[in-house]
Amino acid sequence: MKTQHLQAIWKITEELRGAEQLEAALSSGLEIIADVISCEEGSLWLLNAEDSRLYAVVNIGKNDITGISIAKGQGIAGSVVDSGDSVIVEDCSKDERFSSSVDEETGFKTKSLICVPLKNSYETLGCIQLINKRDDSLFTRDELELCENFASLIAIAMEDRGVSLLPQKKKTPIITLRNVIKEYPSGDGKLRVLKGIDLDIYENEFLVVLGESGCGKSTMLNIIGGMDSLTEGTLTIDGKDFSHPTEHDLTEYRRNYIGFVFQSYNLMPNLTAKENIEFISEICQNPMSADEALAKVGLTQRAGNFPSQMSGGQQQRVSIARAIAKRPRVILADEPTAALDFQTGQEVLMLVEDIVKNQGTTVVMITHNVEIAKMANRVIKLKSGKVSSIRTNAHPMAAADISW
Ligand SMILES: Nc1ncnc2c1ncn2[C@@H]1O[C@H](COP(=O)(O)OP(=O)(O)O)[C@@H](O)[C@H]1O
Ligand SMILES: [Mg+2]
Repeated sequence: MKTQHLQAIWKITEELRGAEQLEAALSSGLEIIADVISCEEGSLWLLNAEDSRLYAVVNIGKNDITGISIAKGQGIAGSVVDSGDSVIVEDCSKDERFSSSVDEETGFKTKSLICVPLKNSYETLGCIQLINKRDDSLFTRDELELCENFASLIAIAMEDRGVSLLPQKKKTPIITLRNVIKEYPSGDGKLRVLKGIDLDIYENEFLVVLGESGCGKSTMLNIIGGMDSLTEGTLTIDGKDFSHPTEHDLTEYRRNYIGFVFQSYNLMPNLTAKENIEFISEICQNPMSADEALAKVGLTQRAGNFPSQMSGGQQQRVSIARAIAKRPRVILADEPTAALDFQTGQEVLMLVEDIVKNQGTTVVMITHNVEIAKMANRVIKLKSGKVSSIRTNAHPMAAADISW
């Protein structure tokens, strides 16, 4: 085995052993593999015994296939799971097992691939797929062997922990971004901040967006929230094209559909907690009363306080109350805990958790804290203006169990 490959296996072993949540380790493991092999896409598919279908649960690359399913036996992945044997396919268009259904759904073009089964001592659990070498070269036996070793490690980790990763079915998206590009004027030229984002946001999910400072997270969230416009690409809301909305539609959308929570709370300093909420609810269609919203965040006693008379955590809870009072379909939260200490941050996260679980709201939350991502139903990572990975968490952690 090549030294580079051994190093990758070493790193992955460490990730898998140390991980609190297996999905996160699988996702970084797959990233390590895709990186060392230098290919465009990587995915992990798991077999659901109930319906005999394979579901994509982890995805590296810009192409979101998580939640897509194929029948066992269908396509190359399905046949690998059926036979239990690995394959290298040099040209998928010439392979009779290849089914183009996933490519048709995503618009991606699969040229060559490696597919290896994921097996424990008793059965085949799924498979790993790596697609298209970046330099168009062919996949090698060495690389296949690396993937097989990775698959064995995953199977051991799953057995060791006694976990099952329940595949999740793809739901209907309420918001979609397709090839969204955002440019800002910069000097004489333009600065391309978002370089073609594809993303689906589903009803009642908790989606966490991770990524280093400056990679475009806030820009993306502001475009989703109608606070900034896109340069190219498509944004749809409930199936309706919203890429270039009218002023009227935009105002309606921001008022009734979206709730915002910012790192810096953004409360009006000269209004009390209650007035800060009433101020917003007066312009919405079907708001919750300010008292009810304050009760939901545990701040009834603070209704008459001004922001300056409250702690940071309390101010953030008021801003969450202000967001939920609109009864929005989606709450967009941009680093809501970044300015808070651990304990108050955790209280805010418990509120967010409650909003998703008990009010059916979708929450999209930006954070650079990977611990917080453990609470999510899905985690997407942005890297310099592109989605670099997407994973689903079959077992999101409770906010109360998270620490940093
Ligand atoms: N209004 C703007 N005009 C010009 N450049 C901007 C503007 N907003 C953001 N940027 C630039 O876009 C990049 C991404 O910013 P942002 O989306 O805020 O990143 P993140 O939230 O991931 O830290 C940064 O380089 C930032 O300087
Ligand atoms: Mg930001």
